[in-house]
Amino acid sequence: MSTLDPFTEPFGSIFSDSMAVCDFDGNEYTYKGVEPFAPFEVHPGAHTLHYSSNCFEGLKAHRQQDGSIKIFRLSDHAQRFCQSIAHLNVTAPPAELVENIIADTVAANADDTPTQPGSLYVRPVFFGTLPIIGAASAPTANAKICVMTSPVGDYFKGGILPLSLYVEQNMQRTTSSFGMVKGGANYALALGPTLVAKQTHGVDQVLFANNNDVTETGAANFFLVDDKTLITRHLDESFLHGITRASIITLAQELGYEVQERTITIAELKNWQGEAFLSGTAAVIAPVCKLIFDDETVDYSGGKPGHNTLKLRQALTSIQAGLAKDNHGWLTPI
Ligand SMILES: Cc1ncc(COP(=O)(O)O)c(C=O)c1O
Repeated sequence: MSTLDPFTEPFGSIFSDSMAVCDFDGNEYTYKGVEPFAPFEVHPGAHTLHYSSNCFEGLKAHRQQDGSIKIFRLSDHAQRFCQSIAHLNVTAPPAELVENIIADTVAANADDTPTQPGSLYVRPVFFGTLPIIGAASAPTANAKICVMTSPVGDYFKGGILPLSLYVEQNMQRTTSSFGMVKGGANYALALGPTLVAKQTHGVDQVLFANNNDVTETGAANFFLVDDKTLITRHLDESFLHGITRASIITLAQELGYEVQERTITIAELKNWQGEAFLSGTAAVIAPVCKLIFDDETVDYSGGKPGHNTLKLRQALTSIQAGLAKDNHGWLTPI
């Protein structure tokens, strides 16, 4: 068990003592159980190093009031992982196998789970190991899955800080068909525009809105909300289908909001009188209080997190912590 403090160390920088590994030989996935956390040997010609045959997941296990540990939306994350693997043109493992590997890893490292608002962040990764550098236009025939965990503290140290975003209207985060894949290549693509916007405009993140179509940032989904309505981009293959996004939609409907999944335009962003926020596993819900466009800057909710944003955040974190009833079976005990 790590002695480092997840509440002061950078998010994702501490690793638990155990990990699980599963190998794919082109026909079968072979899982041998949990083993000590240790580096891999990777062949220099491995497909992933040259042709980005990799993808990953990010989910959390939460310590409950009674000390037990539960994993949030395990089966949905396992399914999305398998969907990403299939988009790399590799036969995906059965989702139940992925669920078992994740549950075993969490169980082995359960003592590392901090109390709320901390959690045990779970990172499954898949990468192609085929040692053939001529295989640029072929999928990897062999692969490895590894599941590791990292105790993490509160994403917002010292309170929930509102974010500022630069609205990028000329570049896409990734391609129209690969955006729903949680593949490493997508994050490499979004990095350049994000660093430029941080330097040029001093913002926290970039909101990708190519073709007058507001989608998501480099690592989170985007929402507008006011006292009556919750709005977010409708699903297609161009962006990541966030599991936090899906949870927020369900909870908002239950709280009486009218949920609209549709295109959001630049004009709508500029004229919006309500609140905005980002959603994702790491930060859960992060209020957005400033949008910077090339020709103007727009402030939302007086520069402070709005009450609708905080209400939705509270609804979600209460379920994760076991303080509110889990009516949807989102928590899996280990
Ligand atoms: C590009 C992108 N969009 C959205 C999300 C939010 O997804 P989730 O809520 O499943 O964490 C993430 C985070 O994983 C992401 O990387």
